[in-house]
Amino acid sequence: MNAMADATKELDARAQAILCGNDRGGYTVPTAGLYPYQWNWDSALAAWGFSTFDVDRAWTELETLCSGQWDSGMVPHILFHKTDPGYFPGPDVWQSGTALPSSGITQPPVAASMARLVLEADPSFADRARALFPKLLAWHRWFMQHRVRDGMTCVTHPWESGRDNCPDWDIGMNGVDVTGIPPYERRDTSHVDASMRPTKLEYDRYLTILGFGRGAGWDAETIMADGPFLMADPGMHFILIRANDDLAAMAAELGEDASDIADWQTVLRNGAEGMWNAEIAAYDARDMRTGQFANVLGSGAFTAYIAGAGKPELDAHLERCWDKVRYGIPSSDPDGPYFEQKRYWRGPMWPFLNALIAIGLKESGRTEQAERLRHETAEAIRQKGFAEYFDPLDGTPCGGQDFTWTAAIWLTWAGQETT
Ligand code: GLC
Repeated sequence: MNAMADATKELDARAQAILCGNDRGGYTVPTAGLYPYQWNWDSALAAWGFSTFDVDRAWTELETLCSGQWDSGMVPHILFHKTDPGYFPGPDVWQSGTALPSSGITQPPVAASMARLVLEADPSFADRARALFPKLLAWHRWFMQHRVRDGMTCVTHPWESGRDNCPDWDIGMNGVDVTGIPPYERRDTSHVDASMRPTKLEYDRYLTILGFGRGAGWDAETIMADGPFLMADPGMHFILIRANDDLAAMAAELGEDASDIADWQTVLRNGAEGMWNAEIAAYDARDMRTGQFANVLGSGAFTAYIAGAGKPELDAHLERCWDKVRYGIPSSDPDGPYFEQKRYWRGPMWPFLNALIAIGLKESGRTEQAERLRHETAEAIRQKGFAEYFDPLDGTPCGGQDFTWTAAIWLTWAGQETT
């Protein structure tokens, strides 16, 4: 066996150990310390990772995630299974009022896409998929009813997008009035370097938006109508389109009824055009209160590929942004005034997002790019380990270490290089 194959085997073992080490009994935390609870899309990706060596455990992950589903159908972005004082804002701040305490917002619905992949890994688990199916369908229906406006999928809090502090949200955040916010103590900056995290002003605004939702008893319609932040998000939108397609495919496989999905897809596919900003020739976030575009090119736009919504103009941007860096797709345009190479979603490369974009690139015939993306992601992990995210220029590992979704996509995708 050559040295490269040996190294791959060692990394496979390490990645499995990270998933098992972050297992808290039926659910995984994204990383010990910084994120001590169950996060929605992290968990879905963890399930995909588990499916490479323990399919039963993969289904359990998706099941515990859906165990936090609200009566409305929403699956929350964080489930607080056991209180941990190392994280802020915890269950006492969110006050969800649910049996299993949770946050009051959701996150991108990658779960159906991951469930489909887990089912493909071993079709003999069809019963588990069948039991999960109505929950996923109810969640997607909730999106259509409570987050889609004028055909565009919206986020009511930057955290809902999963790309917390990306520059896409700046125009919406600028309008959030933080006067009168009570004092609070952040915990994230005691786990990792503050220069890699959102700023204090951003945090004040996050908590103000959260406070509005809590004050409204988390009523989705009040939040959509009057909340301090409402923006259409290309990332959420294309992930939802993809998830609907995957759910419909699963339904066909399982003999379940998914007849509502076709209409949803028509609404969403037409709606995507409302996020096309001709001025920058890209999909762009939009402030729903003013109609204004963010004028930001970010990784949300590149998720268009997983929904089969690529365009030549987007290809040109992808090439330009990518050629400016060394490791994978940066989370914002390196030529943009907002680009910061180490600050979280304002520039860094996120391996799991590369994995999703690569699926879309491959399926749309952009095979060489898909392989390049895999190679660059694998290089960063080989050289620097399973970090939360990476500086796209020099590969510095940033944020938390031994990260669940980085380990998961190593096992499923990045570590699967054939050349
Ligand atoms: C941060 C990320 C979000 C992720 C969470 C846990 O909030 O922005 O996408 O789900 O951390 O890893």
